[in-house]
Amino acid sequence: MTNTHHCAQLTAADLGATVSLVGWVDSIRDHGGILFIDLRDRKGITQVKFDPQDHAELAAQAATVKPESVIAISGVVVARPEGTTNVSLPTGAIEVAATALVIHNISDTPPFPLTDAGGDKVNEDLRLTYRYLDLRRPKMRHNLQVRHKATKAIRDYFDSQEFIEVETPALFKSTPEGAREYLVPSRIHAGQFYALSQSPQQFKQILMVAGVERYFQIARCFRDEDLRADRQMEFTQVDVEASFIDREDVYRLFEGMVKRIWSTVLGVDIPAPFLRMPFHEAMNRFGVDKPDMRFGLELTDLSEVFKNSAFKVFQATVAGGGVIKAFNAKGLADLTQGELKALEDIAKSLGAKGLAFIKSESGEWKSPIVKFFSEAEKAALTAQLGIEDGDMVFFAAAPWEKACAILGRIRLEAAQLLVKRGKMTIRHDDWKFLWVVEFPLMTYDEEAKRYLATHHPFTAPVPEDLHLLTTAPDKVRGQHYDLVLNGMELGGGSIRIHQPAVQEMVFKDVLKIPTDVVESRFGYMLKAFTYGAPPHGGIAFGLDRMCALLCGTTSIRDVIAFPKTQKGQDLMAQSPTPVTDKQLKELHIAVVAPVTPEAG
Ligand code: AMO
Ligand code: AMP
Repeated sequence: MTNTHHCAQLTAADLGATVSLVGWVDSIRDHGGILFIDLRDRKGITQVKFDPQDHAELAAQAATVKPESVIAISGVVVARPEGTTNVSLPTGAIEVAATALVIHNISDTPPFPLTDAGGDKVNEDLRLTYRYLDLRRPKMRHNLQVRHKATKAIRDYFDSQEFIEVETPALFKSTPEGAREYLVPSRIHAGQFYALSQSPQQFKQILMVAGVERYFQIARCFRDEDLRADRQMEFTQVDVEASFIDREDVYRLFEGMVKRIWSTVLGVDIPAPFLRMPFHEAMNRFGVDKPDMRFGLELTDLSEVFKNSAFKVFQATVAGGGVIKAFNAKGLADLTQGELKALEDIAKSLGAKGLAFIKSESGEWKSPIVKFFSEAEKAALTAQLGIEDGDMVFFAAAPWEKACAILGRIRLEAAQLLVKRGKMTIRHDDWKFLWVVEFPLMTYDEEAKRYLATHHPFTAPVPEDLHLLTTAPDKVRGQHYDLVLNGMELGGGSIRIHQPAVQEMVFKDVLKIPTDVVESRFGYMLKAFTYGAPPHGGIAFGLDRMCALLCGTTSIRDVIAFPKTQKGQDLMAQSPTPVTDKQLKELHIAVVAPVTPEAG
């Protein structure tokens, strides 16, 4: 028995028709002997009625069915009695009076209710262990559909722009310059390894040398990173590269892509061009390179005000080359002791010595530090931060980057506290796109005691800054751009270096990678660039992050069918697992410790 209709299809127009439906038992209700089964498939729900007065045996059989069992029914479409129609369902005016029933599979009782609310209440580990049940919930089904629609809109868009999709290898070579890699042992080449591709970066540049001109790929990437709500060890990029384009072309192209996705998936018109902001401005005003522009609470630099202050912490910080930054968390003077302590702990976890504050309450400033402030300093604070009664001001005194990072984070926390109090609204569908531009090409790494590429070593410097490349690398701006949406980095890319001499100089003279290492890691690329490399550039978007934002969820695990937990485990299939000695031997691998007994 296959179906004649899906479960969201039948209406009053079908009255009297003989139909067949298949699906899962959403619920069973017994109304004085008459049995009602809500039958569910991927489209919706139809009510099926088993009346013992019409078919006694059938009704008895239906009574043995349990929720989430898979059944097929046939019957006649009849009108629901007056007053029992359900206007919230497309099929709410009818029911099917069953004449036949096939039970395909009886379900055990699910470990949690498969409703949106029921699943949201349980531990995520339980949902991931029973992911096949979790994915039956309407919300999760919706998320998978959104992802499909977004992916299709992306493919259609790039096709319309004459880009072609080219697949590149997942098994690549180890290039430990970027994120930590997953290594794959070679059976054929004893003691040698592939690395799973962190991104198709090098291949897409090679494709430009190959004359493809316009490439894109929905590409799986692998990075051995600590996992978070917006990070998975395997994730998907919308990866793009094109020849003969400049930054303006890139902005236009991707604003077009975003417009297409948002209009196709959500029916929303996103205005373009998007706002642009230099990296330094983003850091100064919002404390991060991915500012959430849906609310204010902007940071102010007060170093000038406090450079001669009697408050030694501030004065000494400025004297030592650091900065004093502050922001006014408007209306947050009712912060509790516990909340304040939590904010201080966050600040300290980011390296702050403390989190100085001023609470403006009942016409008075309550603060452990105002006693050190002169009248002029207080007046400057009031004017620059617009302090009024009921406000809460936070300070960070530290080197510039640290002060930005601390207050950038406290700003986000303060916003959440204001939302919790109903003093601020932040809507997930308030789409504030932003290009962050003019990143420094290189960042000095204190630990490594050398410069590292801010984006990656293939990013081209801004032409005017090229002459500073070896003398003052930190002064060189890169042709790098990030697309940020509501505090999340959606994508990043750059115009690339296409002259082998410049690329070689970056590797050897700026990044200080030894010549033999450059040769073994990137030699093939430098060589390719000597055979007619066009100017090129591109970008990669995090598809998982984009889908999460489209679905209004903060965790990318909600838009990935089978994600890993924070600890990198697949709780359903149970991985990772030990392997046998035989397997290891074949791969020329010896595991040092720990080996579990069963692996032997
Ligand atoms: P980047 O490393 O910035 O650039 O990555 C591009 C985008 O991929 C997403 N992303 C992730 N999403 C989920 N989990 C992760 N672990 C993860 N890591 C990154 C982010 C990010 O913006 N080859 C360059 C791009 C280029 O230059 O063209 C690259 O990979 O949304
Ligand atoms: P102290 O003089 O160390 O007692 O600090 C006075 C106040 O300033 C306390 O509330 C500290 O939390 C805060 N504080 C100390 N150092 C810093 C700093 N570098 N940035 C911001 N606040 C600080």
